[in-house]
Amino acid sequence: MTTVEHPGTGVAEPRALRAPDLLALDRAAQDLLFREARTADTFTDEPVTDAQVAAIHDLIRYGPTAYNGQPLRVLLLRSPESRARLLPYLSSGNRAKTASAPLTAILAADVDFHQRLSELYPYRPQARDWLADRAARVEQARFNATLQIGYLIVGVRAAGLAAGPMAGFDATGVTGEFFPDGRHEAMLIMNVGRSGPDPSGDRLPRLSTPEVVRTL
Ligand SMILES: Cc1cc2nc3c(=O)[nH]c(=O)nc-3n(C[C@H](O)[C@H](O)[C@H](O)COP(=O)(O)O)c2cc1C
Repeated sequence: MTTVEHPGTGVAEPRALRAPDLLALDRAAQDLLFREARTADTFTDEPVTDAQVAAIHDLIRYGPTAYNGQPLRVLLLRSPESRARLLPYLSSGNRAKTASAPLTAILAADVDFHQRLSELYPYRPQARDWLADRAARVEQARFNATLQIGYLIVGVRAAGLAAGPMAGFDATGVTGEFFPDGRHEAMLIMNVGRSGPDPSGDRLPRLSTPEVVRTL
């Protein structure tokens, strides 16, 4: 079988494993969501509308979560005033791009997501009791909100937009500033917009399938 070397790794893998035609999604969609999609550091001035945000959420809300709990909550910052409240909590390298992005989202986990489980997970009414312990619930909220953030990044790309996720911020500070209710934890900041020129330098190498996948 022909092999190809994954750029930058020196690891060869069978070409068949990388063949895009083994996937059900057409090639253009694969490229839009993954191969051609880049993390954006610069954006055009084109606004991101509430209708686009709703269309993205309407798609990604079908991504699975444990107990169907859906703990992700999204706070959109559009006004200069709301952006100014966020900037001091960002690491210095993340400030300029966040100040200039058309839309910035604070992605948070609802640590009391279990309160909706009788509606969202009706065939296991006891699930709410399993999550009565706050520490266990917070872990579930973080884990599943993180999964939903992954879906959201792909959803942003499905709308032809680019995402700039950032973990470089003071999460405790952002939680206190924007979620004084005590039931949400800030997980990630994400800029969203139409990608500007030279979004983030050269594409970095990715691990090859044999480096990541083993079969026992
Ligand atoms: C969870 C997460 C946190 C990140 N945090 C930052 C950050 O704080 N600052 C930054 O400039 N880039 C950040 N990035 C961007 C990554 O470095 C970037 O997605 C990665 O290098 C892949 O780039 P590419 O999508 O252009 O190939 C983050 C990405 C993710 C997914």
